[in-house]
Amino acid sequence: MNVNDKKYSTIWLEKEQVKIIDQTKLPFQFRIDNLNSLDDFCLAIKNMKVRGAPLIGVTAAFALALEIKRNARGQNIRFAIKKLLKTRPTAINLKWALEIISNKVMDVDISKRPKIAMEIAENIRNKDINDCKKIGEYGYTLLRHIYKKTKKRINILTHCNAGWLATVDWGTALSPIFYANKKGIPLHIWVDETRPRNQGALLTAWELKNEKIPYTVIVDNAGGYLMQNGDVDLCIVGSDRTTLNGDVCNKIGTYLKALSAFENKIPFYVALPTSTIDKNLKSGNCIPIETRSGDELSKISYKKIKGIEKIEIYFKGTKTFNPAFDVTPSKFISKIITENGIFEANQESLKKNFSNNEEFF
Ligand code: MRU
Repeated sequence: MNVNDKKYSTIWLEKEQVKIIDQTKLPFQFRIDNLNSLDDFCLAIKNMKVRGAPLIGVTAAFALALEIKRNARGQNIRFAIKKLLKTRPTAINLKWALEIISNKVMDVDISKRPKIAMEIAENIRNKDINDCKKIGEYGYTLLRHIYKKTKKRINILTHCNAGWLATVDWGTALSPIFYANKKGIPLHIWVDETRPRNQGALLTAWELKNEKIPYTVIVDNAGGYLMQNGDVDLCIVGSDRTTLNGDVCNKIGTYLKALSAFENKIPFYVALPTSTIDKNLKSGNCIPIETRSGDELSKISYKKIKGIEKIEIYFKGTKTFNPAFDVTPSKFISKIITENGIFEANQESLKKNFSNNEEFF
């Protein structure tokens, strides 16, 4: 997507070098980083230079492929996988990508492993772009339907950042928004600030600004009020892990928005690539929820005239708890949008989603 009218993706290979946009600096600084060692990759994921479930998966795939290039012995591959899996526990795409590579390379001769691993990593990256674009096309049909009926600007509420920065390009929840905007449907986006890391105010708002889509940032507690007052036509969010029964795990606070949407009879859509569905889990209560440092609550970054600084906003010694995700039960979800179409949030409907996907890798 666009940054100052120039096209970018979040991760790419340039002369065998993996490059990323450092998202911890956005929107105040636009910095491109090189990732080389396994430690570089692990820290980039853990410290959220790259974040968002699909992008975490793609980054892990490149990390493993480069590690296999350095040393393709089984013992080293297993070590790298273990280390990468420890970085962030909730987004299933990490495990999904690592499993695809290890299942393919472990069966072939050591000398062939580096080439195969890198080809798969690049395929995973390309598939993510295509999947997200498809999500945009399917999601757009929902927005077009609403616009045809009302002929009025559509007010959409979104939580966290599920835009192109959370994927390789296009995004999940924001992809239908980008697509509909290109097709001329008038939109206005309510952007949840998304404390504590403010992915909404910092990343989603920046993406929308770059695409010239009208938006307003709100505090996380404002969504219910806006829904009660008829100011939200629909909600759309992404997912870090979706279980077979249609439960969705996404950024902390998503559940509250879904409850409010349900109470106010507002459609609540979740947009996700199939790589985010965990086929091994029956329901959302089995998903490991990442707990992050309390410093994310008590210290905030702000932009000074020169550079970015942090300040303390709590008194010293304040006890904190910082769960990064929550689970929205499927009964509160109106539709799930994937690269294969639009589905009900239940096992029977989601099964149909898999028919196109099984043999991709
Ligand atoms: O902690 P983050 O910033 O990685 O969380 C990201 C989200 O919760 C997104 O909504 C989710 O990954 C789905 S977006 C593609």
